[in-house]
Amino acid sequence: MKLTILGGGGFRVPLVYGALLTDHAEGRVTEVVLHDLDDSRLYAVARVLAEQASTVADAPTVTATTDLDEALRGADFVFSAIRVGGLEGRANDERVALAEGVLGQETVGAGGIAYGLRTVPVAVDIARRVARLAPDAWVINFTNPAGLVTEAMSRHLGDRVIGICDSPVGLGRRIAGVLGANPREAFIDYVGLNHLGWVRGLRVAGRDELPRLLADSDLLGSFEEGKLFGVDWLRSLGAIPNEYLHYYYFNRETVRAYQQAEKTRGAFLRDQQARFYEEMRRPDAAALTAWDRTRAEREATYMSENRETAGAGERDADDLSGGYEKVALALMRAIARDERTTLILNVRNQGALSVLDTDAVIEVPCLVDANGAHPVAVAPLPDHATGLVCAVKGVEREVLAAAESGSRASAVKAFALHPLVDSVNVARRLVEGYTAVHPGLAYLR
Ligand code: G6P
Ligand code: MN
Repeated sequence: MKLTILGGGGFRVPLVYGALLTDHAEGRVTEVVLHDLDDSRLYAVARVLAEQASTVADAPTVTATTDLDEALRGADFVFSAIRVGGLEGRANDERVALAEGVLGQETVGAGGIAYGLRTVPVAVDIARRVARLAPDAWVINFTNPAGLVTEAMSRHLGDRVIGICDSPVGLGRRIAGVLGANPREAFIDYVGLNHLGWVRGLRVAGRDELPRLLADSDLLGSFEEGKLFGVDWLRSLGAIPNEYLHYYYFNRETVRAYQQAEKTRGAFLRDQQARFYEEMRRPDAAALTAWDRTRAEREATYMSENRETAGAGERDADDLSGGYEKVALALMRAIARDERTTLILNVRNQGALSVLDTDAVIEVPCLVDANGAHPVAVAPLPDHATGLVCAVKGVEREVLAAAESGSRASAVKAFALHPLVDSVNVARRLVEGYTAVHPGLAYLR
């Protein structure tokens, strides 16, 4: 079985490969093709993968190419984990927004819109090529903003593209952990958009255990989301929000913290990764050790400004190993081997959340089997959450319209309608500022 990884020179590729190395069963991935635009990044990552594979007898073969069509031909699965504009682009997304006093974050608010505007045209081009060159392939989209990018690709690939994110999985695992439940035996009632969802229940043996958590202040304050949002606010909501909702519920504080940070997240990662890829040019460098050190530092500093404004302290040790690669592998196994399971994924709504139309990509528990991911119907969200979900979906649709038509007015509308952008004038200046720094936005007229 052939797996093609787009963004194959990306820093998190060794996580995916590491997960593949644990799979020895019949029908596993035997061939990995890395695609990237940048040769030296491919070389660096291939070095790490070679060290990972050195002790594993049946390790999948790895090849690398900068030819996209060649990479796609014959693929059974395609992972798309690209970063249009690189980390320099991410740092610019943050800087331009923060200078206007609004949130500059990779996926949320103005930063997410700017990133979406330059990523969607590239993702659509990839989707068209997959449809032509590998029509039977399943596409697993990691590329952020993951919900929006998955929806853009679904217009060309239908339900053969599935978006993934590890944050709902991490959230479910933490809640199950504090309740003393086995995450594998629990059903997590979670719904929303990517980075904009809520856990409304956690059922074990047919009983909802969430009320027990909400009633117990010690338990509720003991894990990441409890510390970020505070016990009182979680009780008021009667649900546990995805950590990215911290940017909405505590917007003023997070914007200020980001403005005052010595380096924004994107700038920090840009510099950190530049050092890693530079080190990989040295023939004597210990690739896997350098990669793992860099990864550990990245994990430890994840959302550090949010945790600081909330007084949440350090991350729990259990939260430092991510889970991104595990969701991807579980999804691939379920489809390739018909190993039926339930996973929270980004798929077309198909009536699961009735307030949105059937083609809107949402993040929702899905039954997965050889036929793909089937969203499970969920109870409606409360009005305040429905309001946010619909507003942000409206923004995503404007981004898609702008990417398709090249209309600058649609781009302005996308920024202006976002709940975290507080003036049409700000939206106009954001479009000015972003088009000035991003070559990838030159298509906006
Ligand atoms: C979480 C999010 C991902 C994001 C990742 C890394 O897992 O769900 O969407 O890519 O964190 O964030 P970072 O700030 O380290 O790039
Ligand atoms: Mn994510």
